[in-house]
Amino acid sequence: MDIKPILGCTIRFEQDVARDIIVIGNWKMHKTAHQAAEMIELLAPSVAGCQARPLLAVPFTAISAAVAAAKQTKIVIGAQNMHDAQEGPFTGEISALMLKEAGATFVLLGHSERRRLFGETDSVIHRKIVRALQDDLQPVLCIGETLREREEGRTEEVLSLQLEHVFTHVPKTAFSSVRIAYEPVWAIGTGKSATPQMVQKVHAFCRSCVKKIYDSTTAQAVAILYGGSVKAERVRELVSQDDVDGVLVGGASLEPASFAAIIQQCEGVR
Ligand code: 13P
Repeated sequence: MDIKPILGCTIRFEQDVARDIIVIGNWKMHKTAHQAAEMIELLAPSVAGCQARPLLAVPFTAISAAVAAAKQTKIVIGAQNMHDAQEGPFTGEISALMLKEAGATFVLLGHSERRRLFGETDSVIHRKIVRALQDDLQPVLCIGETLREREEGRTEEVLSLQLEHVFTHVPKTAFSSVRIAYEPVWAIGTGKSATPQMVQKVHAFCRSCVKKIYDSTTAQAVAILYGGSVKAERVRELVSQDDVDGVLVGGASLEPASFAAIIQQCEGVR
């Protein structure tokens, strides 16, 4: 990375924008409030001195307890889904404002389990992104191709359409609080992680899509994480790729030791 000191300042070239490494745990439908607090208490000391930023997307009912347990630690708490309306007659749903008040600062949107099992389309996800941004919750947009789409050579087409559908009409200023997670559907919960080289190629492609939608500065600034069977043994090589800014972890985020090991493996990469 080329950094030139000029008149006492450090100037970074546009293509070398420094992006922190972010490690998000997605607990899915695991852990009660009590279990969440217990895990955070065990996890916090092992990640206290680490460079990577640990975030946890926890079940709705665990948000308040997780936020209380994470107070005085560097762990940041978020949610896994929300409705696109501010309020209304939507039995069983939850709004961005409710999540914010419970203490969530970010929300996962468009996870493939939401798309596949709950019928979420790109247009629903677009509306959720807009709502989250309006109500000051940072969205993490999940995108990814199925095995069939990859085998048909359609990975780039699928990802560019997902990004275009979701971000068209989202203003550039609002986009600055968005993160993107590339999660190939075939790698989620299967033990088949994509190789670091595959991930780098796809992330560079996603960044080029963001450049097309916005501009090159915006594309260089956005964090793009990888998710799908991430384990501690593979993480360092993944986050060493230029366009991989962290990981989104399912199964391995459920135990303090395995999640801490992932965060520790990111040490000194950037
Ligand atoms: P696994 O790490 O269990 O494959 O889950 C990935 C995921 O879906 C994270 O959102």
